[in-house]
Formats: sequence, C-alpha cells, structure tokens
Amino acid sequence: MPLPKAELHLHIEGTLEPELAFELAARNGVTLPYADTDALREAYAFKDLQSFLNLYYELMAVLRTEQDFTDLANAYLARAAAQGVRHAEIFFDPQAHISRGLSLGTVVEGLWRALGDSERNHGVSTKLIMCFLRDESADSALETLTAAQPYLDRITGVGLDSAEVGHPPAKFREVYEVAARLGLRRVAHAGEEGPPQYITEALDVLGVERVDHGLRCMEDPALVERLVRERIPLTLCPLSNVRLRAVDTLADHPLPAMLDAGLMCTVNSDDPAYFGGYAGDNFAAVQQTLGLTEDRLRELARNSFRASFLEDDEERRAR
Ligand code: ADE
Ligand code: ZN
Repeated sequence: MPLPKAELHLHIEGTLEPELAFELAARNGVTLPYADTDALREAYAFKDLQSFLNLYYELMAVLRTEQDFTDLANAYLARAAAQGVRHAEIFFDPQAHISRGLSLGTVVEGLWRALGDSERNHGVSTKLIMCFLRDESADSALETLTAAQPYLDRITGVGLDSAEVGHPPAKFREVYEVAARLGLRRVAHAGEEGPPQYITEALDVLGVERVDHGLRCMEDPALVERLVRERIPLTLCPLSNVRLRAVDTLADHPLPAMLDAGLMCTVNSDDPAYFGGYAGDNFAAVQQTLGLTEDRLRELARNSFRASFLEDDEERRAR
C-alpha cells in the first residue's frame, strides 16, 4: 500500500504522456513534429527550465476540446491514485490555451468533468489552481482573472509559473491583490531558478501561503529561519529539479538539509510525464537516493495534507 499523500504541485498540462499526445493529435488532426513516441521522448533532454517550457507549450497544441482536458485529467488522476495520492491541488495554465484560440470555459469545464467525479471515480479529492504565466504581462494576468469570474466556484486559488528569471513576483502585485479580494488562495513558483529574493517578494508582495519549489531559499539563512518560523510550506519537486538541472544529481538535492533545518517540505511531481515520475516515484527516489527514513517519509506525507487547502474535516476524510 503506497503512503497516502496529497500532491500540491502538479501542472495538469505536464501530465500529457507521449501516447496520449499522439492519440489527441490524431483525434484533432494536429501534426506533431515527431515521428513517434520514442522520437518525442528523445526530445526530453532538458538543459534548463526554458528548454522544457518550449516543448511543454508546443505539445499543448493537441489539447483542443473539453473532452481532451477531461481525458488528460482522468489519466493523471488514475496514475496518481495508484501511487497513493488521496488529494491533488492541480495547476492549469489558461493563458497558454486562450492564446491558441480556446475559451477558458473549454478548459475549466473539461477539467471539471474529471475533477468533479474524481472522488467517486479515483478516490482522489481535488482543487483547481489557476496559474498566471509570469513571462506574459501583468495586464494579461488581470484579464485572465476577469475572464475567470464565472468559474470561481471551481477555482480555489491562483499561482504563478513559467520562465522565472527576469519576472519577479512584484510584477503581479495588483492581480494578487484582486485575487485576495475575490477570496482566492495564493501560491507562486519562486526560487526554482530565480534568486532567494523572489521567495521573499512572493511572501511580502503577493501574500502567498505556500511557495512552489523554494529550493534556493537554502542560499539565505535568514530566509530559511523565516520560512521555518512562519511555517511556510514549500512544494518541492525532486525529479523535476534533476531534469531541469536545478541540482546536478538527485544525490545533491538539499531535501535532507531542508528537513533538518525544520522547513515544512512536501514532495511533488511538477510535470510527471516529462520528468520521469509521479508523486510516488518522487517519494521512492528520495527514499532510495537520499536515504530518507520511514519517519521522514511520513513527515513529508503529513506535511502534504497540512499544507493543503483542504478544510479540517475534508483533510481527515482524505487521509
Ligand atoms: N510550468 C510547468 N512546469 C513548470 C515549472 N517547473 N516551473 C515553472 N513553470 C512551469
Ligand atoms: Zn511547477
């Protein structure tokens, strides 16, 4: 029985496995510039975040209809459930679809058809987090939030993702203020490739409750102390960090040092179709390579529920 856990850092578009990409391409008459799934997999040799994002956005071309988003989410939920995920807080990137001519309704309704039935079909409770692309303008983010108003009963929070360096959190001050007024929860990617200062800014300017990645906090002892004191959860993604070269090898990952420092770490998969594993695979990898004890793994699983946006009664049911 895999350890029950919550997944808090998961981009639904990053769960697009090569087989499903080709199936959707055929269904939608989209031609992919790869001969087959093997050729596509060969393109998964990333040198940094941007080289991954280029492929991630390119493959989204196969997602066209509500049914595509439903199929994508159901495929993820089935895999996650098999690895012990009981609750998933799922990111999506509306701007990457709207810019291709899809409506926000197609994306949200399509995802919701899977998420709304997920407890019954997969035994996984879910929440949806709408991310803004930080390499797009703040105005575009604000327009997206405005367009999302009819769907706010389905959206728990907002996040910030895509190319980090050169796009500091403060650029999105206003959109996060509006999100807060709308009662949305707030998270942001910070300190994946960007400096520790971006983590501080995400907390102070955007008012985030969790930091996605937060890896580079380890370069700033005062920031670590603050994150520990304020019990700010970090949603770490070890296999992603290896594939995007944030760390040289998994053996170099600072997770053990972060736990020793008292940081509230969680382990997640980020974009599992691209980075070699789902939530349980990430747990297994850190256990084997970093020698985490059973107690440490249980701490990570406990943290994942505590750091989630589940209410107390929902959390008890999910565990
Ligand atoms: N979008 C999808 N995965 C991402 C990551 N790891 N960092 C930033 N943006 C992303
Ligand atoms: Zn991410």
